[in-house]
Amino acid sequence: MAFKHISAMPGEVLSFLDPQKDGIYVDGTLGGAGHARAIMDRVGSDGMVIGIDQDMDAIRHARETLGADNIRLVHGNFADLPQILQELGIDAVNGILIDIGLSQNQLEQSGRGFSFMKDEPLDMRMDTESGTRAEDLINGLDEKELADLFFTLGEERFSRPIARSIVRERQQAPITTSLRLANIVSRAVPRKASAGQKIHPATRVFQALRISVNNELGRLQEFLDHFVDCLKPGGRLCVLSFHSLEDRLVKEKIRELEGTCTCPKDFPVCVCGKTRRVKSLTRKVVRPSEQETMINPMARSTRLRACEKI
Ligand SMILES: C[S@@+](CC[C@H](N)C(=O)[O-])C[C@H]1O[C@@H](n2cnc3c(N)ncnc32)[C@H](O)[C@@H]1O
Repeated sequence: MAFKHISAMPGEVLSFLDPQKDGIYVDGTLGGAGHARAIMDRVGSDGMVIGIDQDMDAIRHARETLGADNIRLVHGNFADLPQILQELGIDAVNGILIDIGLSQNQLEQSGRGFSFMKDEPLDMRMDTESGTRAEDLINGLDEKELADLFFTLGEERFSRPIARSIVRERQQAPITTSLRLANIVSRAVPRKASAGQKIHPATRVFQALRISVNNELGRLQEFLDHFVDCLKPGGRLCVLSFHSLEDRLVKEKIRELEGTCTCPKDFPVCVCGKTRRVKSLTRKVVRPSEQETMINPMARSTRLRACEKI
């Protein structure tokens, strides 16, 4: 299968990550490996890139196409980075990139129901070896649970009528395909509200399901709680996220790690957790240029933040 993906903000990623020759870098979201390839070029043959992805398709594709000595591929979750590095016998790395979200391949070619433009089984798992599928949630949650899910993870205004329609429709037959779900959602959203909108009425519901199925916010938070311990002093983190819920977690963690210690002076060790451990490299969130979004519309909602370990 041809694997399509245009990497988001490639110039900015290289500039914030600043890969050094001979360095060791983690690409926690390998995807189509565009960013990984660029980092591999920078670190050269004595450096190394550890490419992680929870989707086996991405690992297989990289195995078939990268063909270089300076990449180690790991099928896993970036939330487990401390264990992954331990298994590889690596104490700390010079930089970490995570580019969260869907690859173009997952959206357009995986056949797992990420897109409402095609009729596919409602799966939505990035790691197909474990976890709950979207159809399990759609047919298993009660009306209130569905409405809460669409509201909290999709910021969907019409979460209640949508949940009501889903529950009514699934009484006829379980909802198992993406197009049927998209049609139910479209019909539940008032016509006046969807007219003139740039996005399909089912966009937020699909986003909420995908985030929930893959526990995306939970896994991101786990990663954020441990990444500093995986970096060498001077090592950098660069995060690309795609919606405000993820970006908020990243922003708050960087702010917390930049904090000054508030423990009483006579405390032998810090217990407030506010020790200054990183410096932010992005005072404000960085967005893609207009030129980039014209060439790559998928990058339009990308948000970049970066920091450096002190
Ligand atoms: C936007 S794509 C990455 C594209 C890549 N940077 C490139 O240049 O081609 C996101 C990838 O991250 C993977 N992914 C998302 N969350 C993950 C996680 N928590 N752990 C590991 N991989 C994850 C997805 O499976 C997908 O392949």
